[in-house]
Amino acid sequence: MPRYAHVIGWGCYVPPKVMSNDELAKMVDTSDGWIREMTGIGERHIASPKESTALMAVHAAREAMETADVNPSDIELIIVATASPEYPFPATACLVQDALGADHAGAFDLEAGCSGFVYGMCSAAGMIRGGMFNTILVVGAETLSRLVDWNDRATCVLFGDGAGAVVLRGSEKPGGVIASVLGSDGSGGELLIVPGGGSRNPAGPETVTSGMHYIKMSGREVYRFATRVMASAARQVAQQAGWTLDKVDLFIPHQANLRIIDSAAKSLKIPPEKVFVNLEKYGNTSAASIPIALCEAIDTGRIKPGDKVLMVGFGAGLTWAACALEWTTPKHLAPPVQRTFLIRLRYNWFGIRSILARILRHVDAALSRLREVVERKLPVE
Ligand code: ACO
Repeated sequence: MPRYAHVIGWGCYVPPKVMSNDELAKMVDTSDGWIREMTGIGERHIASPKESTALMAVHAAREAMETADVNPSDIELIIVATASPEYPFPATACLVQDALGADHAGAFDLEAGCSGFVYGMCSAAGMIRGGMFNTILVVGAETLSRLVDWNDRATCVLFGDGAGAVVLRGSEKPGGVIASVLGSDGSGGELLIVPGGGSRNPAGPETVTSGMHYIKMSGREVYRFATRVMASAARQVAQQAGWTLDKVDLFIPHQANLRIIDSAAKSLKIPPEKVFVNLEKYGNTSAASIPIALCEAIDTGRIKPGDKVLMVGFGAGLTWAACALEWTTPKHLAPPVQRTFLIRLRYNWFGIRSILARILRHVDAALSRLREVVERKLPVE
């Protein structure tokens, strides 16, 4: 029997702090008019010092698991797509696994710039269809505000923070993720890059004084690449899925720039009412942009069972990724699950279990050190 990978849960999180274009105009030489006209962005959410990529990923993941009505221990794999991980290592996905209490899950990060979430979703769907796993959590989470040079008006106006997540599950029922396209052109790697902090230019006083730890972007080149690749990846994935573009019910493009989205939609002849756009509120949240948009589209009723949804991302790498999704919400999810106190308690319990496990590890390490000391003083004959 062929297997299919369905989205059974979704969730998203953005930090409460909102930064408007006018606030930015007080920091760099820009204006609300320029930003709106050139990008379509009106404001963005910025993480507080206490918020970071893993924390936002956990919020989004919990909501996705609640919607799916799955326990953390049902999750077999966690993929976190991010270009702004918590640390170089351990992987942010492992921190998410721990905070969720997903004690049966493998976990890894996926770095494909803004295409990361669609890369993750396509990879997860492939693993489910191939029978390797049955339930996978895919998260796109970013804190790009920590990588942005707040003195560089060409980049700081573009990005925002947030996270989105889906739970994918295998079934014999046709639908779900039915076609995927992944692409890369590393010859354009330097067009969108954080040059410092890796093995080529290890972090040190020099990388910091020369600002190598910030995002560097050749905006115009990236723009040209994006308009070209968005339309071609959409065509390719639709063809693979056996769809004609006029049958697509909702196009969810990466939310980087309204002009790029309009140009791709125009070239694909997809009318504006079938294009999901929310970048006015969030800016470019990189790997989180498509899952946040997907989440909002579902929650506002823009996606209905049977709908054909086409998602296309592009970003650093350079990379691109497209996914054709036939929406098949399980019956128990309509109307949406009410987040009751008991449901919250269930997810909090898994988190608490995880904290207890950490405390036990510390106690175990302390006891083992104590044993060593005692054994050294009283050698066994
Ligand atoms: N406010 C006012 N003026 C500005 C600003 C600003 N924030 N930024 C740049 N300008 C000025 C420039 O200095 C330049 O002035 P000049 O003509 O006097 O030299 C002028 O505006 C035009 O600058 P360009 O950079 O050539 O403008 P462009 O038309 O390319 O638009 C933009 C810039 C909006 C950034 C566009 O290039 C773009 O959207 N590119 C794609 C970026 C993108 O999508 N990046 C994300 C990729 S996803 C990922 O993986 C993270």
